[in-house]
Order: sequence, then structure tokens, then C-alpha cells
Amino acid sequence: MKLNIKSKVFLAPMEGINDIAFRTLCKKAGAGIIFSEMTHPLTQQKIFIEGKMVIQLFSTNEKGIKEFIKKYDKKVFGWDFNLGCPAKTAKKHGFGIFLQDLNLIEKILQTIRSSTKKPFFVKLRKSPQTFEILKIAEKYCDAITIHPRTQEQGYSGKPDLKFATSLKKKIKLPIIYSGNVDEKNYKNLLKKFDYLMIGRRAIGDPNVFNFFSNKKTNFDFKDYLKLAEKYKLPFRQIKFQAMNFTKRKPDAKKLRLEIFKAKNLEELKRAI
Ligand SMILES: Cc1cc2nc3c(=O)[nH]c(=O)nc-3n(C[C@H](O)[C@H](O)[C@H](O)COP(=O)(O)O)c2cc1C
Repeated sequence: MKLNIKSKVFLAPMEGINDIAFRTLCKKAGAGIIFSEMTHPLTQQKIFIEGKMVIQLFSTNEKGIKEFIKKYDKKVFGWDFNLGCPAKTAKKHGFGIFLQDLNLIEKILQTIRSSTKKPFFVKLRKSPQTFEILKIAEKYCDAITIHPRTQEQGYSGKPDLKFATSLKKKIKLPIIYSGNVDEKNYKNLLKKFDYLMIGRRAIGDPNVFNFFSNKKTNFDFKDYLKLAEKYKLPFRQIKFQAMNFTKRKPDAKKLRLEIFKAKNLEELKRAI
């Protein structure tokens, strides 16, 4: 399946970060595809869908997955399945990188594939199972994302670029590469991989996507705030993003302290 997209650099799925307001700014700034936070099909949270959005699912509840896809399939650009989350909760509940039963993985990927004709991806880490899972993914998916760090590494340490490039020779699917991608290394990485994902580099700075597109945006926290109010995002999320958006600002110590102290939206608005 050919992906009809303008930029080969995407916003990586990030729990707690990729709310609707932040995703919208990243898309406007030039992200080719915007991924949701990892989402459980039985979530009670409101699902906002816009732009070229891929919803990332995590769950072993096949019925839940099927019903969720049926409900939102028309509106999304595509679907992703999380097989990489290294968090303690993932260990406790057996999802992400801790979902290791190959038969169950195949059943889930099969369920997703039979529920949608939209692009379908799977996101993995480096593990002894990566290659076996990719062989299954080849039967059902349109592309795979590799973040070549192990579960033990979490988000630190070097991503294993050699491991990721070796997959390119072993599988036919397009590969989306994730791991420390930024404006300095993306040209070289695009020689090795089909697409790239930006995670932490984009936190608080959606304009980073200008580097990978022909867009020129200058979004700041006020642009985020406008959207966050439009979508009625909770105050704690807005305050969290205010801290993110001011992180890279020089001399922002005093401003960030005021933001930190704000107890409600009015106080936060006065601070910025
Ligand atoms: C705060 C945070 C939340 C994340 N949440 C998810 C998630 O929900 N699903 C997922 O597949 N990966 C998640 N990741 C991993 C990123 O998508 C990405 O693969 C990883 O951060 C490496 O890319 P980077 O070096 O560009 O940040 C998360 C990473 C961070 C920092």
C-alpha cells in the first residue's frame, strides 16, 4: 500500500504528550503523520480525531479492538499496534514489549487487518523476538516502526542503528525508524529508512517539523492554549505543556516558576 503523505517525518506516539492540541500544531508545522498516545480500546477518555492521524492501540481484547476500529475507522488515516512499551504497567498487564506470545500477536494483527482497509503499522523495540514478530507483521501490516532500544534501555543509551538497518535487508515492508531523530541526522537516516519518527525532540517544539517540510510556523504556548481551550483539555495537561513549551526558552527560569505555581487557568494566563 502506498502512503499518500507529504512529509516522510512523523510525530511519534507519546503518552501524556500527544494531546489533540499538540498533535494539531505538529501537523500544521509539517509532520507527515501524527500518532496518538497509546490508546486502550476500552478507554473512557474522549477520542479526538483530525488530520492524518494514526491511532495506536494496545490491548489483547480482540472484541474490544474490533469494535473500537469499527467506531473510528472512517475518520482516521490508519492504525498502529504497540509492541514496544517497556513500562512497569506494560509488564504487569502483559502488553507492549511484554506481549510475547507469537500466536496471540498473530491473532491480534489478524483481527486489526480484517477490521480495516486503512494503513496498518506495528511498533517494536529491539528484542530476541523482533525478527519473528516482523515475519508475522509482513502478513498483515503496511509498514513497521522500529525503535532499536531494548526494554532494559528504556529511553536512554544508544539506539542500535546496525540492528535497525539489518532489518531492512530481512523484510519487505517499509520501515519507519524511531530513536533520537533530529534536524541534524534526518537526511542520513532517510538514506537508510523509508520514514522517520520524531519523539522527544518535538516535545514543546512543534515547529521542529518545519525542518522536514516546506512549512514555516512559529507556534508557541499561546497557540497551544487556544486549541487546548477549544477542546476543553484539563488544566493539569495545559500546565504540563506550558512547562514543555518554555523548557528551551533562554532566561525562562522566572516564567517557569510562575507557571509552576499557577493553580488555575487564570493564574497560568497571567503568568505567560
Ligand atoms: C513521554 C514519552 C511517551 C511515549 N509514549 C509512547 C507510546 O504511547 N507508544 C509508543 O509506541 N511509544 C511511546 N514512546 C516512545 C516514542 O514513540 C519513541 O519511539 C522513543 O521516544 C524514541 O524516539 P525519540 O528518541 O525521538 O524520543 C514514548 C516516549 C516518550 C518520551
